[in-house]
Amino acid sequence: MSETSVAEVGVDTRPWWYGTFGYQVYLRSFADSNGDGIGDLAGIRGRLDYLVDLCVDFVWITPFYPSPMADWGYDVADYCEVDPRFGTLDDFEALVAAAHRRGLRIIIDLVPNHSSDAHPWFADALTGPDSEHRDYYIWADPGPDGGPPNNWVGYFGGPAWTLDPASGQYYMHLFLPEQPDLNWRNPKVLEEFDRILRFWLDRGVDGFRIDVAGALVKDDLLRSNPQVGPWDPAAGRFEQWLAFEHLHDVFQPESHEVFRRWRAICDEYGAYLLGETYHREPQGLADLVPGDGMHGGFWFEPMHIAWDVDELRRALVGPVELLGERLLWASGSHDHERSPSRFGGGDEGRGRALALNVLFACLPGVPILYQGEELGLVDGRVPPESMLDPVDNGRDGCRTPMPWEPGPGGGFTTGEAWLHSDPRSECETALAQVGDPDSWHSRYTDLLTVRRALPDLFDEPVVWTDGDHGPVISYRRGPVGVAANTSFDRHQVEVPAGSSVVYATPGVEFAGAGQLVLTAHDAVIWAAPS
Ligand code: NOJ
Ligand code: CA
Repeated sequence: MSETSVAEVGVDTRPWWYGTFGYQVYLRSFADSNGDGIGDLAGIRGRLDYLVDLCVDFVWITPFYPSPMADWGYDVADYCEVDPRFGTLDDFEALVAAAHRRGLRIIIDLVPNHSSDAHPWFADALTGPDSEHRDYYIWADPGPDGGPPNNWVGYFGGPAWTLDPASGQYYMHLFLPEQPDLNWRNPKVLEEFDRILRFWLDRGVDGFRIDVAGALVKDDLLRSNPQVGPWDPAAGRFEQWLAFEHLHDVFQPESHEVFRRWRAICDEYGAYLLGETYHREPQGLADLVPGDGMHGGFWFEPMHIAWDVDELRRALVGPVELLGERLLWASGSHDHERSPSRFGGGDEGRGRALALNVLFACLPGVPILYQGEELGLVDGRVPPESMLDPVDNGRDGCRTPMPWEPGPGGGFTTGEAWLHSDPRSECETALAQVGDPDSWHSRYTDLLTVRRALPDLFDEPVVWTDGDHGPVISYRRGPVGVAANTSFDRHQVEVPAGSSVVYATPGVEFAGAGQLVLTAHDAVIWAAPS
């Protein structure tokens, strides 16, 4: 795909991802090719035409590396291999080649904040303070009271330190004890990852989604964070995390050096470097993606908001101004409740999630659908005894298998799915929806198709046209306008005479020249006459 590489100075120097729509594949639950109940690389290959027909431009695949699966693959034991449960390196190369033949690009998930405790580096580090790889990780002597070296807590709850009884030192982990954090102040770690990036780029990947991108480098003095509330190790993970102001464990500016270095490597290949940049303030996100490091970063606010017009406006307006094309928009992921569930469930929730995607569609930045979003999926129901996620308030519900067809296994597997969940209804399946003009799948396919055909909007500023109040959110970008009705009431929207409606959700009515009526949760894209 080098013909559109940004590294080449040609007629069109715009990065390939400008104007694209992405799709997140949660590998374990997308498609199982061999009946072992676990989604795999060959399974994705078998479904590429589905993705092409949906009109997505690139696919981000969650980790496929060898892993003990303590955190479902986000605990990597070898950064340059494929876990046999997901396939082989040949399967990976075959997938990339098959995708590229169809014009689809492949982004892989890189997990540099921590490895698995089963990684040979950590196994060696455990052999003692003088071991070759000891400094690949973050070690410290106990604090004055004999406990952990400082007050840092893990994002999944509990202290961020685990004692290694053999050496009497603690190692640091922002997530599970099985996920020891790498020491990004060690130049050898930087060199290892340069090689890892090139290993995959040489196999044709089109970019990386950097896991936990905001947290790589930690405070060099390992200073304690200011405590801002009571900390109860028995409390929920978010409550524990919010008991501290995270001055010293995450968001250290030195991480930018790592990203500048990776940016140079990715630019050689024309690859997209995007971050899991978990910051709830637009300015915080802008600081993480300053322009010369990662090309883009996910904005997470839309994954947290309730369906409330003020929250929606706040989640849309601020980041656009500060980040523009550096934004990645998503309303769901494998870590969050699916947006139709969060927005009220049923067709009401589905309609709202679609309206939000219509709002994303013409803003600067790259929107990404989470697998099954195009089917309007709400969270799957996982019986309590079948829940597998190690984290409290488990993430199993958004990770249930993709419902391709009705019946046992749902077309996902011929065997027993790794995660047990209630069967989906027939109308939720891809088989029932694809080709039915009145399905959620068709509404999403139409949206992605329309977006691809829109004129180039990159130099057009976003002008919010709703006066910052009222239940209809609307903006213009050059010749294109977008409006979404967040309420249950009917609302009239005026568009310039002679405009054409290029996309409309089913309830939109035409009330005469230049007049549209949006019923509950409708959204529309129109284009002014040229
Ligand atoms: C973010 C990933 O999306 C999530 O699934 C994982 O548990 C954490 N990072 C830790 O790697
Ligand atoms: Ca399989």
